[in-house]
Amino acid sequence: MKRISLTQYLVEQQRQSNALTAELRLLIEVVARACKTISHSVGKGALGDILGSADTENIQGEVQKKLDVISNEILLEANEWGGHLAAMASEEMETIHPIPNRYPMGEYLLMFDPLDGSSNIDVNVSIGTIFSVLKAPEGMGQPTEQAFLQPGTAQVAAGYAVYGPQTMLVLTTGNGVNCFTLDREMGSWVLTQRDMKIPEDTKEFAINMSNKRHWHPPVQRYVDEMLEGKTGPRGKDFNMRWIASMVADVHRILNRGGIFMYPADLRDPASPGKLRLMYEANPMAMIVEQAGGAATDGHGRILDIPPTKLHQRVPVFLGSKNEVEVVTRYHGE
Ligand code: AHG
Ligand code: MN
Ligand code: MN
Ligand code: MN
Repeated sequence: MKRISLTQYLVEQQRQSNALTAELRLLIEVVARACKTISHSVGKGALGDILGSADTENIQGEVQKKLDVISNEILLEANEWGGHLAAMASEEMETIHPIPNRYPMGEYLLMFDPLDGSSNIDVNVSIGTIFSVLKAPEGMGQPTEQAFLQPGTAQVAAGYAVYGPQTMLVLTTGNGVNCFTLDREMGSWVLTQRDMKIPEDTKEFAINMSNKRHWHPPVQRYVDEMLEGKTGPRGKDFNMRWIASMVADVHRILNRGGIFMYPADLRDPASPGKLRLMYEANPMAMIVEQAGGAATDGHGRILDIPPTKLHQRVPVFLGSKNEVEVVTRYHGE
C-alpha cells in the first residue's frame, strides 16, 4: 500500500481547494510536529520526569500537571517563529499570547487545549491535544482577546492528537475528517483513515454518571430512558463508556458511534458544564459535524454560539446525529 504522509496530503489539499493556503498548511504541520514532541514526552513517563503536579494553578482553578505546562510550552515555542500566526490562546494561559515582535506576524489565530485528560496522565491512560484555528480579523494590529471571540463556524481548521497505544492525529480543514497515525520509527504522520463518518445511530453513551444528582431534568430523562433498556421507551439496550479524556471519548465515537455528554447542572452555584467552548467544544464540534455527526449545547448548535469570553464553558452533547437530536429535543419540551 502506498503511504501518504501528512505533508503530501496537505499539499494535495492545497492544490485542490483554495481554502487551504500555504500559511495554513505550515500552521498544521507545525502543530503536528509539536504533537509529535508531546507524544515523545508522554511516552517517557516517569523516565522523563513528566508525571505529577506542577504545583501551580491555571485560570480554570485547576492544579496544573507538569505535562499541562510542558505541552503548553512545546506548542508555544513551535508556533512562535513561523510567521503564520497573529496570536495564540490556551487553556493553561490566563490571556492571549501575542507573537514576540522579533518574529513576523501571520494571519491566523491558534487556540489549544495542550493536554486534554490531565487526570489520566499519571495512570497511563489515553490523553491528547486539541486545537482550533481562526483567521485574525482584517485590519487589526496587535490582536486582543476580542479577536478570538468568533463563533465555531468561523474555524478554518480543527484537530486533535490522541496519545494512546498509538499516537494519532485527526484533522479537518472543512473538507471531511482524516486520521493520521504516527510512525514512531520514521517520525512521520501517515494517512490511515480517510473521510471518517460517525454512524447516525448508536447504542453507546458517555457521561460522568457520578454527577447524576445534579443534572437538569432533560438529561435525567434522557439517561434514565437509555438505562431502562429494551423494555423501556427506547426499545434497546445501551452500553456506557467514560474515559475522562474528551479526546479519547470522541475518538471512540468517531470510529464506532456514540453520544458524549458533559451537561450543565444544578450544582450550587449552577454549573455551565466543565468543557471550554474555544478549545474543546468548538474544535470537537467541527470535527464531529464534518464526520456527519451533530454537536449542541442542549439547545442549539455549538458552532453557532457567539463567544463572550476566552475561557467560557458550555454544556456539550455530541456524536451520533439521531441521539444528539433526542437529547436536544428533550431540552425543548
Ligand atoms: P482537561 O484535562 O483539559 O482539563 O480536560 C478534562 C476534561 C475532559 O477531557 C474530560 O471529558 C472531562 O474533563 C472529564 O471530567 P470528569 O473529571 O468530570 O470525569
Ligand atoms: Mn485542565
Ligand atoms: Mn480538556
Ligand atoms: Mn487540558
